[in-house]
Amino acid sequence: MDEGKNDLINGARMRMQKIKLTINGKLYELILGYEVQPWHTLAFTLREKLGLTGTKIGCDRGECGACTVLMDGRPILSCLTLTVECDGKNIETIEGLLNSKTGKLHPIQEAFIESGAFQCGFCTPGMIMSAKALLQRNPNPTLEEIREAMSGNLCRCTGYIPIFNAIMKAAEKMRGMT
Ligand code: FES
Ligand code: FES
Repeated sequence: MDEGKNDLINGARMRMQKIKLTINGKLYELILGYEVQPWHTLAFTLREKLGLTGTKIGCDRGECGACTVLMDGRPILSCLTLTVECDGKNIETIEGLLNSKTGKLHPIQEAFIESGAFQCGFCTPGMIMSAKALLQRNPNPTLEEIREAMSGNLCRCTGYIPIFNAIMKAAEKMRGMT
């Protein structure tokens, strides 16, 4: 077979290859070369291809944490993660925190509201996802542990204290639920 035909066949295979992502419990199959390009970031795919605009893009270069989502339970920067790297992974975004059966917000979301832990709100989805990852692995963190876990998430508005208070409060709420 000549090289040109090989290229066509390989190109066709490439076009049919699917990237499978489970996002907030729902399976998405995206065709590589069509719905996902090899250079697309997860943040781009979530927002521009899947309409999940709760994840924010602040700096788009790994500095602010606004784009934080969870991949297999661990916080990642979706602006620095290629969608093709997420094939077969479980992704959790801020949209997944609402209890779809009861319509209730997640205790971390409630605690942020009760503590006045946001102003413009742009950093908040990323903050909440980082906090969720922390409280999953450490249900009773100290203030120092919270500061450390949240050190990759920047906020220009709040001065951070209400955010740390909210995470303390969320931890109490979540311990009360178990
Ligand atoms: S948008 Fe990803 S770290 Fe700022
Ligand atoms: S609430 Fe505005 S950046 Fe954090």
